[in-house]
Amino acid sequence: MRIFSGIRASGAKTLGNYSGGFRQYAAMQEQGEAFFCIVDLHSITTPFEPEELREATLDLAALLFATGLDADRSTVFVQSHVHEHPEAAWLLGSVTSFGELRRMTQFKDRSAEQDFVSAGLFTYPVLMAADILLYRTNVVPVGDDQRQHVELTRDIAERFNQRFGETFIVPEVMVPEEGARVKNLQEPERLMSTTRGAPQGVVRLIDPPDVVRKKFKSAVTDSGREVLHDPEKPGIANLIEIMSVATGESIPEIEARYDGQGYGPFKEDVGEAVVALLVPIQHRYQELRADEPQLRGLLARGAAKASETAAPTLEAMYERMGFVRP
Ligand code: TYM
Repeated sequence: MRIFSGIRASGAKTLGNYSGGFRQYAAMQEQGEAFFCIVDLHSITTPFEPEELREATLDLAALLFATGLDADRSTVFVQSHVHEHPEAAWLLGSVTSFGELRRMTQFKDRSAEQDFVSAGLFTYPVLMAADILLYRTNVVPVGDDQRQHVELTRDIAERFNQRFGETFIVPEVMVPEEGARVKNLQEPERLMSTTRGAPQGVVRLIDPPDVVRKKFKSAVTDSGREVLHDPEKPGIANLIEIMSVATGESIPEIEARYDGQGYGPFKEDVGEAVVALLVPIQHRYQELRADEPQLRGLLARGAAKASETAAPTLEAMYERMGFVRP
């Protein structure tokens, strides 16, 4: 089984990224041949600073290994190191419609927030489809916000196969049952995001323990009677889900354990559980990030393996589309 996922190299990654992404990657690398791509080419579709992009790329590499990816099992690489990605994206642009891209919710949300909407932001999902399809991927582990992009990838794959002959595997999306939509702690109706929403409600994987505790202490809960089990209460539901991600306990178990207690102590306990989860990750992260030559070496190894896998797919695309090859 082939597994592929991508992670944007921008901002400091959040507890949401861990919950919907990193956590799944580490588990899935045991189940097949896994590729994890730091998508730096996607990072330039929204405003960015060159110096920060360089740092963010290496930070993210260290974080991926720190959260459990094993360089001997998984191929971890940087998208811009493998030229097949943008080339394949250009080819796939011919089987993607303007209407499809215009309907993407991520594009609608992000473009509404910016004065300068780049062409790259619009064609972002085509590059994402190229990422996935080049590896003849069976399963794509992502959080819920990326589901629509993977569904578009499936449509693009089917359309290409129909028009030019069987070339791609049509991939399945894999979204975790719990923790696929971690919300901002201050604004529980919106997703926790690296770049948007109240900063006090965004828990970053490299936040110091005291900062994490404080963010949970001030998390917005809901008014009315303090009961844990109430689907009408997005703030508390989010905290329960985070607790479940941090400890591995099921939601009913957590609800039973805190039954009849107030929100205050519960919020503190969730904060402690997240601190216990993050501290070992942060230690490994600091160590890995301090050795840049080693990190670059791992990424070079990853890129070589990725390119070896992607090149034959790209070649098949060119052939089937009628290009004269050099
Ligand atoms: P990115 O970098 O925004 O996010 C990385 C992963 O984290 C998940 N995620 C969340 N999960 C739960 N709760 C949240 N609040 C939350 N926020 C983010 C995302 O769903 C994602 O799985 N477009 C992708 C990167 C990409 C990609 C790909 C993914 C490029 N090519 C190919 C899969 C396959 C993105 O921006 O992820």
